[in-house]
Amino acid sequence: MSFFESISQLPEDPIFSIPLLFKSDPRPRKVNLGIGNYRDAEGFSHSLTCVKKVEREIAERNDPNEYLPIDGHAEFLKVSQELIFGQALQLSSNSFFAAQSIGGTGALRIGAEFLTQETSKAIFLPNPTWPNHKLVFSRSGMKVHFYRYYDEASQSLDFVGLRNDISNMPPGSTLLLHVNCHNPTGINPSYEQWKELSALIKQQKIIPFFDFAYQGFADNPEKDAEPIRLFVSEGHEMLLAYSFSKNFGLYSHRLGIFFMTINHKETISKVSSQIKQMIRSSYSNPPKLGADIVMEILKSDTLKEEWLKELANMRDRLIQMRHALRSGLQAKASHKDWSFLNRQKGFFSFCGLDQGQVHRLIKDYAIYLPANGRINVSGLNPQNIDYVIDAIVDVAHS
Ligand code: LMR
Repeated sequence: MSFFESISQLPEDPIFSIPLLFKSDPRPRKVNLGIGNYRDAEGFSHSLTCVKKVEREIAERNDPNEYLPIDGHAEFLKVSQELIFGQALQLSSNSFFAAQSIGGTGALRIGAEFLTQETSKAIFLPNPTWPNHKLVFSRSGMKVHFYRYYDEASQSLDFVGLRNDISNMPPGSTLLLHVNCHNPTGINPSYEQWKELSALIKQQKIIPFFDFAYQGFADNPEKDAEPIRLFVSEGHEMLLAYSFSKNFGLYSHRLGIFFMTINHKETISKVSSQIKQMIRSSYSNPPKLGADIVMEILKSDTLKEEWLKELANMRDRLIQMRHALRSGLQAKASHKDWSFLNRQKGFFSFCGLDQGQVHRLIKDYAIYLPANGRINVSGLNPQNIDYVIDAIVDVAHS
């Protein structure tokens, strides 16, 4: 008899199980379009050159090996804030709180626990969304609801549904919004639509919680940040979870930031005390190396320029592969209009395949992707794209 024998078995994670299945597949022609980890045209997932350069410099220095403060590396937070918010922070009358986090997921979790404890027990997520959102918020004790976001028939944003659902949310609820490169659909509101949403969210007294994991992958870092800069300049109290995994390629460093804006100066130190205690009681304080790397890059004009170029190269390759996928599918399955693929932005392409069709891609072609049909576009390259297109055409017909 075990104290633990009544524990229930949970399913494998829908995204993290894919690399394991892929690895164990012996078929030589296999293709991994699963987890959102950038791969180059040869299929490799390297560190950025500017990151490697700074890593070497740091390794040669004799830096003290000490704990960071509970809320992280102050100088890293300062330079990152400028990257993310630009001038909006200085112009806003709100007060800010920032804490370094364990990746973007860690920042979401800090926000979720804070909301559960202090204010809001209901969160509304877009349908569809990154599957881990549901787990993060429900396991933190929030009641998870979904709002309309994606219209399957037109393969575009369901803006009317989205607006109507926000209009019916109870005041004080939290609304999770993907800033750009919506995961999994690649579809986001236009700037004009964000303006409308900002006014509506304010009128409905809803707390926006932004997930910003892809700055620089839609258009460029400045343009991609416009929605949150708009919300800050319009005085919203809001939360934001930021990830450096993709745009600095720091996947295994687990580097992120949790931000909050508050319109009551006296409240900020209370918020900070709560969040710092939350961090102290879960992982004590964050790791230093990733924060040092980002700080060094953002502080140096030359390194920042190099980083922006490398980021632009990744973005351009994603755009090229997305266009190649679309034109290949259009040529080989011309009964259907595939132009929706070119309207999607970022890491992912939501190609409209159902669970059964994805299952066939895995079983018959060793092409791995999550069951919702989301393709990591960086997994496509000149060597495999025709194979993938032919396979999609085959399963889409069946
Ligand atoms: C993804 O969506 O594939 C990535 O963000 C990795 C993850 O944590 O799920």
